Amino acid sequence: MGKSAAKFEVPIKPVKLVIDGKKRAFDIDDPALPSWITDMELAAGGYPYEDRMKKKEYEATLELLQIELVKLQTWLQKSGERVMVLFEGRDAAGKGGTIFVTRQYMNPRTARNVALTKPTETERGQWYFQRHVAHFPTAGEFVTFDRSWYNRAGVEPVMGFCTPQQHELFLDETPHFEKGIVADGIRFFKFWLSIGRETQLRRFHDRRHSPLKMWKFSPIDVAGIEKWDDYTKARDLMFERTHTEHAPWTIVRANDKRRARLAVIRRLLVSMPYEGRDARVVGEEDPHIIGMPSQALD
Ligand code: ADP
Ligand code: AMP
Ligand code: MLT
Repeated sequence: MGKSAAKFEVPIKPVKLVIDGKKRAFDIDDPALPSWITDMELAAGGYPYEDRMKKKEYEATLELLQIELVKLQTWLQKSGERVMVLFEGRDAAGKGGTIFVTRQYMNPRTARNVALTKPTETERGQWYFQRHVAHFPTAGEFVTFDRSWYNRAGVEPVMGFCTPQQHELFLDETPHFEKGIVADGIRFFKFWLSIGRETQLRRFHDRRHSPLKMWKFSPIDVAGIEKWDDYTKARDLMFERTHTEHAPWTIVRANDKRRARLAVIRRLLVSMPYEGRDARVVGEEDPHIIGMPSQALD
């Protein structure tokens, strides 16, 4: 991929990081990845598997699950049920790719994705939830959110885009807000894709050096390289305050994107009574990959 030729108009300063008590120097513009990253990119944060899922197994399983998703969508159309699925996680956790394969073979007219940019001045003057509510599903729709109102529990407090008072109000209000969603009958899911630190650095490096992925690499990601611990604190507080009985968080260990994507789709399929389910295809959930907030990787 011509990685050795990478030259950047605006270089990113090398940083010194402390990871698991070890001092590390990280220069994202160096095309060579250090071994402390390549050795740990799968194991990072306590990942439970030693190997990635093989491509063949992944692709075969994914296709069968995608057929089930089409059946799910047919059921939604017939029944008028509404589904809303939030995808959250650190930068480079794999939200975009998971949403992509989930929606890949669904009718895009009724399976929409919502990926909002930072709020405009008008939006900043509104009730915080207002601009998100505008995208909620109508009868028969399946709506994914690539990031969501939970920005106010993560990137906004960590990067200083909101005040501590706004953060606190958000943590107080969100369980009530979400109670309204569920009470109205929307089938509501909140996924947190969890990755380890070396995994994140590996993916940032890939983005920096790949002409196909560089659009994914943002100034927020650059600043985030040194803010791992701040994000951890913000995430744990978010779980503490917004993991409720009516709207629980589901954690997905996502160092291996393939297992993570299959686990998310399975969870959606096992949670809804669509017609024509092939129980052998949907299979069992993998408790090493998907579970409760106590399972997030560090
Ligand atoms: P993404 O990782 O979602 O592709 P970015 O890394 O650029 O996008 O930004 C992460 C999130 O931070 C986005 O949801 C973006 O809207 C939000 N964000 C960026 N700048 C601001 C800001 N000034 N105020 C509020 N939110 C912001
Ligand atoms: P990804 O995080 O999917 O972008 O992958 C990071 C690197 O790991 C890529 O350069 C791939 O070559 C490698 N990789 C990803 N998935 C697999 C897999 N299932 N088996 C072997 N290598 C993989
Ligand atoms: C991801 O890949 O996790 C997101 O879609 C993009 C990001 O937040 O970096």
